[in-house]
Amino acid sequence: MQVAVIGTGYVGLVTGACLAHLGHQVACHDVDERRLRPLRDGKAPFHEPGLDAIVAATVQAGRLRPEPELAAAVQDADVVFIAVGTPPKEDGSADLRYVEGVARDVSTLLPTGAILVTRSTVPPGTGDTLQGLLGAAGRDDVAVVSAPEFLAEGTAVRDFLEPERLLFGGPADAAAKVASLFDGLPESAPRLLTDRRTSELAKYAANTFLAARVSLINELANLCDAVGADVSMLSRAVGLDSRVGPKFLRPGIGYGGSCFPKDVQAVVALAKANGVELPVAAAAHATNEAQWRRIADRAGALLGGDVAGKRIAVLGIAFKPDTDDIREAPGLRLMAHLAGAGAMVRAHDPLARLPDQPDLAGVAQAASAEEAIQGADLVVLVTEWATYRDDLDWTAAAGAASTPLLLDARNALDHDALRAAGWTVKGVGL
Ligand code: NAD
Ligand code: UGA
Repeated sequence: MQVAVIGTGYVGLVTGACLAHLGHQVACHDVDERRLRPLRDGKAPFHEPGLDAIVAATVQAGRLRPEPELAAAVQDADVVFIAVGTPPKEDGSADLRYVEGVARDVSTLLPTGAILVTRSTVPPGTGDTLQGLLGAAGRDDVAVVSAPEFLAEGTAVRDFLEPERLLFGGPADAAAKVASLFDGLPESAPRLLTDRRTSELAKYAANTFLAARVSLINELANLCDAVGADVSMLSRAVGLDSRVGPKFLRPGIGYGGSCFPKDVQAVVALAKANGVELPVAAAAHATNEAQWRRIADRAGALLGGDVAGKRIAVLGIAFKPDTDDIREAPGLRLMAHLAGAGAMVRAHDPLARLPDQPDLAGVAQAASAEEAIQGADLVVLVTEWATYRDDLDWTAAAGAASTPLLLDARNALDHDALRAAGWTVKGVGL
C-alpha cells in the first residue's frame, strides 16, 4: 500500500521504516528538516539499535522516502499515520494541538477514501474529534482509525517486527484495512480489533500498568532498605508467580522517558475531567517524583550529609540504556539538584549529551567514564549501560577515584566483584 507518516520521530520513523521493510511504499514527513536530512543518506536521525540498517535498505530500495512537502507526502496515500508528539499541558492532560493540526492540514490534501490513523498516544475521543474536523472540511469519505504504538526505545525495531499484540480501533472496514498493512508480521501476535475509544485508552492503560509496577517495586525497595531485606531476591520471588511475571520489577531512580511520566499524568487528568478518580495511577506518579530525591538524599548521606564541594561522578545521562534520549531522564534532575547544592558533578554517557539548560550549567560532560571517575568522592550509576558492567576496569577506577565509593542506583553492577576491586558499594533496597 501507499503509506504516509507525519512526524518522523521515534514512533513515526520506526513505523515508516518497518512498514517499508514489509514491502509498502512509505513517505515520511516532518516539519523539522533535521529529522529528514539523515534519511537521504540512509541513516536514522537518532540512535535506535537496528534502525539504520532498515532505513538504509528501504531508502536504497526506493520504498522509504523522506518528504519535506506535506502535500507530496499524502497525495497518493491509502493510509496516513499521525505520529507527532502529544506533550503534557500544564494540568498534565495531553496537548493535542499537533495531532489536530495535522488532521486539519491533511483534510484538503487526502485522496478520496484515504484512512487517517492516530499512531501518537491520544486520549479517548480524539479520533472522534478528528473525524469531526474532517467532516467539517467535507471529508466524510476519510475514516479515522486508532493504531497505538507499543514500542520501547532501545528495542523499537524488534518491538515492531515481533510485537506481542497489534491493536486497531475504529470503523470495522477501515480498521481491518490498516491491520492488513501489518500482515507480514508474525501471526503469533494477536490482532485486536475494537472500537476507537477502547483502543485509545488501552495505550494509556498499558503504560500506566507498567509505570505502576516500577513505582511499586521502588516503594518495596525503600522498605527493603528500612527492614534489612534484599529487593533483588524479593523481585525474583514475586516475579516467579506467573500471575505477576518477572519484567518491570527493577527498582532504581524512578522511571523517565517521554512517555511514562506524561502518560500517567495524562490518564489521571483524563479521569479527573470525567469525574473519576485513579488514585493508584496518581500514587505511581507521586512515588516516581520522590524516587530520584531518595537517591539524592542517599548520595548526600554517603558523603557525610553535605555534598557541597564534593566531586561526584554520574554514570549515565539517557533515561535508559541503548538510547540517546534524555527526555524526562531522572538523572538530569538528580544532577541539577546535586550541582545546586554545591557539588562538582561530572557526567558520562556512551551516547547521550547533557542538555543546554541553566540548572545544569555547573555539570560537566566527561569524555569517558574513567575521566568522570578521576578524583571523584562518589560515583553514582544512573543508567545501566552494559559497558559500565562489562568494559569498565573497576580496579583501575578504584585507584583513580579520590574515594572508591559507589551508589549503584540501578542495582546493575556486580557488587561482590566491585568490593573485591576495592569499592564500597551501596545499591537500592539491597
Ligand atoms: P518525537 O518528538 O520523537 O517525534 C515527533 C515528531 O513530530 C518530531 O520530529 C516533530 O518535529 C514532528 N512534528 C510535530 N508537528 C508536526 C507537524 N505538524 N507535521 C509534521 N511533523 C510534525 O516523538 P515520539 O517519541 O516519536 O512520540 C510521538 C508520539 O508517539 C507521542 O504521542 C508518544 O506518546 C507516542 N509514543 C512514543 C513512544 C516512544 O517510545 N518514543 C512509544 C509509543 C508511543
Ligand atoms: C515505554 C513502554 O515500555 C512502551 O511499551 C511504550 O510504547 C512506550 O513507553 C511509550 O508509550 O512511549 P520506554 O519509555 O521507551 O517504553 O522504555 P521502558 O523500557 O518502558 O522504560 C521506561 C522507564 O522505566 C525507564 O526510565 C526505565 O529505566 C524505567 N524502568 C523500567 C525501571 O526503572 N524499572 C523497570 O523494571 C523497568
